[in-house]
Amino acid sequence: MTQKQKLIAGNWKMNGSLEANAALLQALREGVGQPACAVAVAVPAPYLAQVQSLVAGSPIALGAQDVSQHAAGAFTGEMSTAMLRDFGVRYVLVGHSERRQYHGETDVVVAAKAGQALAAGITPVVCVGETLEEREAGQTEVVVRRQLAAVIEASGGAVADMVVAYEPVWAIGTGRTATPEQAQAVHAVLRAQLAAATERAAHVPLLYGGSMNAANAAQLLAQPDIDGGLVGGASLKAADFLQIIAATQTVQA
Ligand code: 13P
Repeated sequence: MTQKQKLIAGNWKMNGSLEANAALLQALREGVGQPACAVAVAVPAPYLAQVQSLVAGSPIALGAQDVSQHAAGAFTGEMSTAMLRDFGVRYVLVGHSERRQYHGETDVVVAAKAGQALAAGITPVVCVGETLEEREAGQTEVVVRRQLAAVIEASGGAVADMVVAYEPVWAIGTGRTATPEQAQAVHAVLRAQLAAATERAAHVPLLYGGSMNAANAAQLLAQPDIDGGLVGGASLKAADFLQIIAATQTVQA
């Protein structure tokens, strides 16, 4: 059986500067070589043009962190999929828990954003995950299934063209990672849900995110349904991000 290629995506969140981005990308380009996995960085919108030119001709794909649910018009502060396409964006995060928590994004809004991305040929990285309260109340499965169901419904049959990221909210930026077993258990639920919607469920990359780092990546990536990582803090340090990318090689060897 041929192994499918893993995907390691960095989410820079609201970090960076012209100078810092240039230094980070230079180090990544020098260190990444010919990676065994797909690599992407989701950067703040003002830096899309800069990073587009910094990654040109490299194996690093450009990602955005959000997109409007609307195509165009009077939506001050929003950006459309067409605008992202103008800058060569290949991936866009939708429904990150920070958008859901701090910006009131509902499952319906997230699903509409994923639909816009799919229609524009940009791969949505659909983020799902439970809070600590929800986990402790035994609601993990119900919550992630509800979040994913909304997106599947709105995907217009293009389910297999998206990426799904399981990011337990309690593991984001806390240094508290889900154990490989905890993550795998949820990934298996998501895979089964995808399988009910598409024959190509096995090809949908399921990423884990939440305090993934150079030390824990290999163990997480070794799980059968963990196809990559969505990396926050550790993606801002070239050496750490490169080690996570290299960890996919260990797993695939
Ligand atoms: P950290 O890796 O900093 O925990 O962030 C994870 C995340 O939210 C990626 O989208």
